[in-house]
Amino acid sequence: MNEAGFRTVKSSQVILKELMVPSYANFGGKVHGGVILGLMDKIAYTCAASHCKGYCVTASVDSVDFMNPVEVGDLLTLYASVNYVGTSSMEVGIKVESENFREGIIKHTNTSYFTMVALSEETRQPTRVAGLLLEDEEEIRRFVMGKLRKKLRRAHQQEISDIGEALNLRQAMIELQGENCDLSLLVTQETVKV
Ligand SMILES: CC(C)(COP(=O)(O)OP(=O)(O)OC[C@H]1O[C@@H](n2cnc3c(N)ncnc32)[C@H](O)[C@@H]1OP(=O)(O)O)[C@@H](O)C(=O)NCCC(=O)NCCS
Repeated sequence: MNEAGFRTVKSSQVILKELMVPSYANFGGKVHGGVILGLMDKIAYTCAASHCKGYCVTASVDSVDFMNPVEVGDLLTLYASVNYVGTSSMEVGIKVESENFREGIIKHTNTSYFTMVALSEETRQPTRVAGLLLEDEEEIRRFVMGKLRKKLRRAHQQEISDIGEALNLRQAMIELQGENCDLSLLVTQETVKV
């Protein structure tokens, strides 16, 4: 940490490699998505804890789209970096690649963003973390994009919450016509009263 209390991005960057063994397979013979998500959570914690030098928890995970299946026998490599730091939260960007040794092919499996929040050891409440010492244009770009994602996440959560509260179920039921659901067994509150 420098005198002003900032740490470099490089100081907490982490690379994790794991061989995809047969016990990780799902019923289709590919690696279970949950195994990959578990490794992503592990590296997110390692990266964030290394930046804040303390305890932190996973507050949210952005969408994870699996672009390519991972095969048993592949070597999975996860790259994690702190993109953005707020007051107590840290956005960790994670890129996952799978490597097939025999064919010499490396595939981009997925990318996601984990928001980790540092907690005080004593109070277990969110606590301030060191800022980021940005060293090049790419790190600045990532910080700006992380800040934007934080804003969009909040707006999205608020929007969903507002829509849920204002939901008119009668109107929504009319709009469900043509959707892949069947309301023929519906027991409405009116039916129950009769
Ligand atoms: C994450 C948690 C600590 C936030 O607590 P809180 O009292 O809501 O905290 P605050 O509202 O003061 O927010 C603290 C920070 O967390 C961020 N945050 C809170 N909820 C968030 C969410 N759902 N997604 C992303 N960031 C979130 C805030 O933006 C804020 O960031 P900042 O300090 O950089 O501005 C709390 O919700 C929690 O403990 N959740 C359970 C975490 C957990 O058990 N994870 C799985 C096991 S590790």
